[in-house]
Amino acid sequence: MSLFRLMGQDLAVDLGAAGTRIYSRGRGIVLDEPSIVTCDTRTGKIVSYGADRPAGGDDASGPAGGTRAVRPVGGSDALDREFTQRLLKHFLRKVHAHPYARPRVVMAVPDDSTATDRRDVQDLAFEADARQIYLVRHALAAALGAGLPIGEPAGVMIIDIGHHTTRIAIVAGDRVLTTRSVRSGGAHVNGSIARLVERDHGLIVGDGDAEAAKHGLGTAWKPLDRQVTVRARVPETGHESRVTLTAQDLYEATSQPADVIVRAAISAMDGCPADLAADVATRGAVLVGGGSLVRGLGRRLRARLGVPVRRAERPRESVALGLGHCADDLALAARLHAVRR
Ligand SMILES: Nc1ncnc2c1ncn2[C@@H]1O[C@H](COP(=O)(O)OP(=O)(O)OP(=O)(O)O)[C@@H](O)[C@H]1O
Ligand SMILES: [Mg+2]
Repeated sequence: MSLFRLMGQDLAVDLGAAGTRIYSRGRGIVLDEPSIVTCDTRTGKIVSYGADRPAGGDDASGPAGGTRAVRPVGGSDALDREFTQRLLKHFLRKVHAHPYARPRVVMAVPDDSTATDRRDVQDLAFEADARQIYLVRHALAAALGAGLPIGEPAGVMIIDIGHHTTRIAIVAGDRVLTTRSVRSGGAHVNGSIARLVERDHGLIVGDGDAEAAKHGLGTAWKPLDRQVTVRARVPETGHESRVTLTAQDLYEATSQPADVIVRAAISAMDGCPADLAADVATRGAVLVGGGSLVRGLGRRLRARLGVPVRRAERPRESVALGLGHCADDLALAARLHAVRR
């Protein structure tokens, strides 16, 4: 075992509510797994982490063979925090394959984070055996990961559409200026699909099945003339059933969460100084986060904001890649290290 392996690689960790991505210095993304902890329903004990889940449980909201899947990241109670800490520790060990490794870790903190928020992330990393932690503001990591140069002084808007949250920031140089955070993301589209099926067909759709329908035919722009069949359950009997949804149904379900994002982006533009708004009118907005993969969301935003909108090449991974850039260049990580300004 080399000293290098024992001390630990330099890692960048994007610990998201839906998924965790880990980047290892010089190697790229080495882990990409759901941020899921699976517990025994009876004893409450953790039975597995991430992608290592018991068969039959593709639905994070329901029981599967006596187990319950929990997404603890971003949750607010003490158990969520404990599970998040254990999940992070598990992932770091998995990457290292060595129980005593003490890596240096780069992680993201919210753009409008308080000293307490930063302390929380720091504690999480130390509890997971990091020997040093660098905190980088989320929007800067996303911008770097989307291929935007950090030195560029003109303002650009970054829109990260995650699982429960969309984070909007206007970034200029290495400064994060106007920020908005709203409760809208991929999970809201899934919830909206499930509500629509319940309203129109009286059937229950699990989160995994709503997610599959969204991947197949979800759209925030002109719906195609197509249909998708979704697995559902009859509420009274629990019997399995099927329901056919049109692209128009999925468009309807996507509209409300999409408009929450549109309104927040407009508010960010309205809230920033005129010269920055002029920059954004030229440079536009960049979409990152898995939620941005819904078809037509970029077009909808472009039409409503009146600025150019493009999606990053690897939107689910942009934050991890940007943090990874900092792990490759710890001097940059130290320069961007989030402190109160
Ligand atoms: N192909 C796809 N089409 C539509 N939505 C998708 C697709 N792939 C992933 N998503 C959605 O992306 C969301 C997760 O995005 P992402 O992985 O960026 O979130 P996260 O980083 O884990 O969460 P957060 O940033 O909110 O903490 C999920 O809600 C999922 O439904
Ligand atoms: Mg994220």
